[in-house]
Amino acid sequence: MKERTFCIIKPDAIRNRSEGKIINELLEAGFDILQLRLVRLDRDAAERFYEAHRGKPFWEELIDLMTSGPIIAILLEGENAVAALRKFVGATNPRTAERGTLRRKYGTNTTRNALHAADSLGNAAAEASQFFY
Ligand code: CMP
Repeated sequence: MKERTFCIIKPDAIRNRSEGKIINELLEAGFDILQLRLVRLDRDAAERFYEAHRGKPFWEELIDLMTSGPIIAILLEGENAVAALRKFVGATNPRTAERGTLRRKYGTNTTRNALHAADSLGNAAAEASQFFY
């Protein structure tokens, strides 16, 4: 079934100039790009986006990363897109992510892991609404 999902290419991947390769991999994997935007998050916007993680040990480091440079927000469509994208992005820690996943290829550590991918249809819609209308 066709679904929409949402991802962010994080500042660490853009700093490494990996965003072109990542977008190409998403296209080659069969995802359609419906909307795409390069933006700089201020602290408020980053905190709003990651509200569910407030207070966790990695919170400050995560907000610092997400405000350290531009991000690319992408609305994607594809077959079972939410689960398919999560699988393609890989585990949070790039070092333990499966071979062939985007985090394994482009991530650095558990915080600087190159991409965020929505974990449910509901979260995908809510997250996308912070960037697209
Ligand atoms: P993301 O999928 O964007 O969701 C929350 C982010 O917090 C995660 O990717 C990582 O960038 C960061 N993070 C850092 N440490 C952890 C951790 N131990 N568990 C989950 N997320 C973490």
